[in-house]
Amino acid sequence: MKFILFTMIAYLRYLSKSGSRHSVHSPFVYNIVNEVFKNTKEHSSFADIAILRSKLLHSTQLIETTDFGKGKNLKDFALRFEDVASVARKSAVSEKYGRLLFRLVEYFHPQTIVELGTSLGISTLYLALAAPNAKIFTIEGCTTKSERASSNFDTMGVSNIVQHIGRFDLVLPDLIKQAGKLDFAFIDGNHTYEATLANFNSLLEIAHNDTVFIFDDIHWSPGMEKAWDKVTSDERVTVSIDLFRMGIVFLKRELSRQKFIIRF
Ligand SMILES: C[S@@+](CC[C@H](N)C(=O)[O-])C[C@H]1O[C@@H](n2cnc3c(N)ncnc32)[C@H](O)[C@@H]1O
Repeated sequence: MKFILFTMIAYLRYLSKSGSRHSVHSPFVYNIVNEVFKNTKEHSSFADIAILRSKLLHSTQLIETTDFGKGKNLKDFALRFEDVASVARKSAVSEKYGRLLFRLVEYFHPQTIVELGTSLGISTLYLALAAPNAKIFTIEGCTTKSERASSNFDTMGVSNIVQHIGRFDLVLPDLIKQAGKLDFAFIDGNHTYEATLANFNSLLEIAHNDTVFIFDDIHWSPGMEKAWDKVTSDERVTVSIDLFRMGIVFLKRELSRQKFIIRF
């Protein structure tokens, strides 16, 4: 609620600055636009996830949730009762962006994926079903949500997901050791400037030339815009793509440095 006006203004700025594929002169990015962003091919997983999402959106079951999104230390955490439907409505990736995650994974073939922010597991499922042979490490601070996600993964018959419960800053060091390398990251939790940069810097420890980073909610607040600016100006980042809701970052040293804003 707090940032609605901010996001609306940011969206108008995005509309005025964003271009179509014809404004893209990088062959690498042009191919992503054509083969990923413009790809409208159906996949059986999309229908399966849609059925699960609909079930969650109709569930009146009350669960005790821990809200980790408000601050950096334990004192800021809030416990409350919410129904599953409202957790799904507020946190799950939209179908449009879920399909985008799926297609990015399908296109880049990552073997090791790290997700920060499992919630009920909808985005995790898009990642996992796009790459059945990859390993998806996902972290969620709220035990109840993580348990609910686990039963969603069972329902969908997905077994390539490794769940971690705990705060990102506490869990990441061990997860980084366990994962060993990072091909693809989806950062979708604790949307503050400090946490976004801290998580990015931690994950960079196991990143390589072909690692792909996806950030959610890059224009959600002044802090998130500042974080997106800082990430895309980092000397290790060569190409970034701003799709408004999500931002994609590449480290490929063979590409010339460029920031793209693309209409999606
Ligand atoms: C936007 S939701 C994730 C939605 C999920 N990726 C999806 O699309 O289905 C963000 C999640 O991150 C968790 N989270 C936020 N800050 C966290 C932190 N510092 N440590 C652990 N989990 C955190 C929240 O509990 C919440 O469930």
